[in-house]
Amino acid sequence: VSIRAATVADHQRVLAVADEWWGGRAIAGLAQRLFFDHFADTSLIAEDEHQLIGFLIGFLSQTHSDEAYIHMVAVHPDRRDSGLARDLYAHFFDLARRNQRATVTCITSPVNQGSIAFHVAMGFTSELHPDHDGPGNDRIVFSRDLDPIDAMTTSPVDG
Ligand SMILES: CC(C)(COP(=O)(O)OP(=O)(O)OC[C@H]1O[C@@H](n2cnc3c(N)ncnc32)[C@H](O)[C@@H]1OP(=O)(O)O)[C@@H](O)C(=O)NCCC(=O)NCCS
Repeated sequence: VSIRAATVADHQRVLAVADEWWGGRAIAGLAQRLFFDHFADTSLIAEDEHQLIGFLIGFLSQTHSDEAYIHMVAVHPDRRDSGLARDLYAHFFDLARRNQRATVTCITSPVNQGSIAFHVAMGFTSELHPDHDGPGNDRIVFSRDLDPIDAMTTSPVDG
C-alpha cells in the first residue's frame, strides 16, 4: 500500500467510487475538481498496485493560520478496519505539523455513526453544532490538537 499526494488525474477516480464507498449516499458532489486543482498537495491517495483503496481531501486553512482541515476521507469497503484511515490521518497530521499547524478540524453529519466513532478513536473532541450548514443541517465539529508524537508516526527518519 502506498500513500502519495493527489494529482488532478485522481479526481475522476475519486468521483467514480465516492457514492458507493459512502454506502450509496450521494456524496461525490462534495469532491469537486477544485480540491484536485488547488489542494492536491495536501490531499492523499492510497493505492495497492495502482488500485485506489483510500483517499483524503484536506488543506491548510487560509483563514486560521494554525489550523489544517480535513474535508473528506474514505477507505474502500473491503479494506476497512485495517488501519488505513488511521495511516492517512497520520500522514496528514505530519504534513500539517510541517506547515506549522497546531490543530486539525473536520465535520461530519450526525447520522454518520461510523465517522463519529472513527474520529473519537483518532483522538478528536466532538461538539454538536445545530444548523451548522444551514437550517436543519446539524453537524458534528471535530477538533484535535497535534503533538510532537504525530510527527514520528509516519516518517521516523525525518524526525
Ligand atoms: C470512516 C472510515 C474512513 C474508517 O476507515 P478505516 O480504514 O476502516 O479505519 P481504521 O481501520 O483506520 O480505524 C481507525 C480507528 O477507528 C475505529 N473505527 C473506524 N471505523 C469505525 C466504525 N465504523 N465504528 C467504530 N469504530 C471505527 C477503528 O476501530 C480504529 O480504532 P483503534 O485503532 O482504536 O482500534 C471508513 O469507514 C469509511 O470510508 N467510511 C465511509 C466514508 C466516511 O464516512 N468517511 C468519514 C466522513 S468524511
